Amino acid sequence: MNVYDSDVLKSILTKNNHSIADGLENADLIVVNTCSVRHRAEVRALGRIRDLKQYKLSNPNLKIAVVGCMAQRMGEDLLKELPFVDLVLGTERLFELDTYLEKLEGNRIVDTRVDGKLPDGTIPKSDSDYSAFVAISRGCNNFCSYCIVPYVRGQEKHRPAKQIIDEVRQLAQKGYKEVTLLGQNVNSYKDGIYDFADLLQMINDNTEINWIRFMTSHPKDLSSKLIDKISNLSKVCEHLHLPLQSGSDIILQRMNRNYTSSDYLNLVQQIRGKVGDLCLTTDIIVGFPGETPSDFQKTLSVLEKIRFDAAFTFRYSPREGTKAESFEDDVPEKEKIRRLEILIVLQKEISQKQNQNFVGRELEVLIDGYSKKDKTRLKGKTRTDKTVVLDKKEDFLGSFRQVKIISANPWTLFGQLQ
Ligand code: 5AD
Ligand code: SF4
Repeated sequence: MNVYDSDVLKSILTKNNHSIADGLENADLIVVNTCSVRHRAEVRALGRIRDLKQYKLSNPNLKIAVVGCMAQRMGEDLLKELPFVDLVLGTERLFELDTYLEKLEGNRIVDTRVDGKLPDGTIPKSDSDYSAFVAISRGCNNFCSYCIVPYVRGQEKHRPAKQIIDEVRQLAQKGYKEVTLLGQNVNSYKDGIYDFADLLQMINDNTEINWIRFMTSHPKDLSSKLIDKISNLSKVCEHLHLPLQSGSDIILQRMNRNYTSSDYLNLVQQIRGKVGDLCLTTDIIVGFPGETPSDFQKTLSVLEKIRFDAAFTFRYSPREGTKAESFEDDVPEKEKIRRLEILIVLQKEISQKQNQNFVGRELEVLIDGYSKKDKTRLKGKTRTDKTVVLDKKEDFLGSFRQVKIISANPWTLFGQLQ
């Protein structure tokens, strides 16, 4: 969502007579879009912002703006702590950045007001020519006990379905091949008439886009109607990011996730039964307050049962103002690191085996760039969101090709054009 927001901001600014500088030293405005989800993200953002002070010394006209979640959370404190920052805009104000720039004139401004305002649907200036994000909702009402998002991004707000469909149509006309619909919990999307399953159906039927993806899904809101759509709609890709967070029911309850590990397992069984070749990815937190070795063991055992294609794994980080902040952060940091390492090793083994299953098969791949490690090779994505690296024969960028998979590691498939 932050990448998308930065892209929308780039688009708004470039429309209003700004252009993108070719380096920080040549910029008259530097905007830092921040994340608050874990303490470490904020520490890193603060470090980056402090490094920017040097550019003000060589360019006195330079303005520095800090926007997004950390700006929302810290507000005035950021201006106090960082005297060289000119502008601090919260999660609902950042899209008005150009108006605030006009008001600056030597002042320093903080605005973190929230009034449920959504950006006007400006098409983001994305780095990719083929894949685009489309936010369908913002904010979150779930209040998972560890999570700061509902506090910094506010109440859930949904964009009207018509506006979303128009945006996808425009993206398809511009040559984009796939969209990823974004929301903190896309499954709870509603615009008064339509729910998320209806939205998928309408984008599938009424736009020229080739592939439709979405994230993030919450297990408690993944309905049978939605599972049927994933299974039946030809453009909806077979990938689901479904955060589990923990395999222990006691921990899940303390996290306020509203499902048990067996609910989750049943759900996965239901989806896998209907959607062939589904790729399933997840998020896991280790070291949540009160997580015993036996709770952690339950997480490992669910991982072994489900066999996710990939897992994003995090050490619990207490966030100010959340419910879990009042629980004792009783798993020592060293133990959190140890559990994280065990989890990563197990998941790596599983990911390797999952990817190995594709070796020998022919898959449809959207070729979208060059391999990061070897610029002489192309890379692309499967419908299941697996990265495929393949030899460059000619410029196939932006096209869908059949590729035979010849080898795999835990993160990447390697293939040959057919
Ligand atoms: N500590 C650690 N991980 C967190 N996440 C959210 N809040 C925290 C926190 N306080 C993780 C969750 C979520 C992902 C985006 O970040 O796993 O799904
Ligand atoms: Fe945070 Fe839970 Fe909302 Fe996800 S669903 S953004 S983890 S509160």
